[in-house]
Amino acid sequence: MSINQLVYMSQAVRKMSPDDLSAIQEKAKSNNGPLDVTGSLFYNGGWFLQVLEGPASTLAELYKKIERDPRHKNSRILYNEPASFRTFPRWNMNMTNLDDRQADKYDQLVEVLEAAQANRKIGSASPAVTLLKIFKS
Ligand SMILES: Cc1cc2nc3c(=O)[nH]c(=O)nc-3n(C[C@H](O)[C@H](O)[C@H](O)COP(=O)(O)O)c2cc1C
Repeated sequence: MSINQLVYMSQAVRKMSPDDLSAIQEKAKSNNGPLDVTGSLFYNGGWFLQVLEGPASTLAELYKKIERDPRHKNSRILYNEPASFRTFPRWNMNMTNLDDRQADKYDQLVEVLEAAQANRKIGSASPAVTLLKIFKS
C-alpha cells in the first residue's frame, strides 16, 4: 500500500517531564498501531519534531487531531510526501528525548531541530529530509 511521510514541528507549551513524554508515546503507540501508522517523535526541551508514516488520508486525519492537542502550539508541517518505504517500520511511535543528552545520533538530531526552528537548511537539504536520511538504513 502506498504511504506518505509527514514531518511537523511544534512548540511545547511547557517543559515536558519524562512521564509527560511517556504518556504521549503510550497513547500514540496504542492509537497508531491499528491505523498502520509508524514514526518517531523527538523532543529537545522546547520543541517537538515528529515523523508520521502511513496512508495519506489517515495521516491527514491524525495530524488534525494531534495539532489540536493543548500540550503544544504553532505546529507547522515541514514535509508531506509519498514514500516508497518507511523509515521507522518497527515503531508505532518511537521517542527520543534530546533533553537528557543521551540519545544516539545526538549531535545530528540537535542540528536538525535547531535548523527546523530557525527555518534554515542543512547544506542544501531541508531539516526534514536530513532527518529522514539520518535514519535511512
Ligand atoms: C507532540 C505530540 C505527539 C502526538 N502524537 C500522537 C500520535 O502519533 N498518535 C496519536 O494517536 N496521538 C498522538 N498524540 C496525542 C493526540 O494529540 C491525542 O491526545 C490523542 O490521539 C487522543 O487519543 P484518543 O482519541 O484515543 O483519546 C500526540 C500528542 C502530542 C502533544
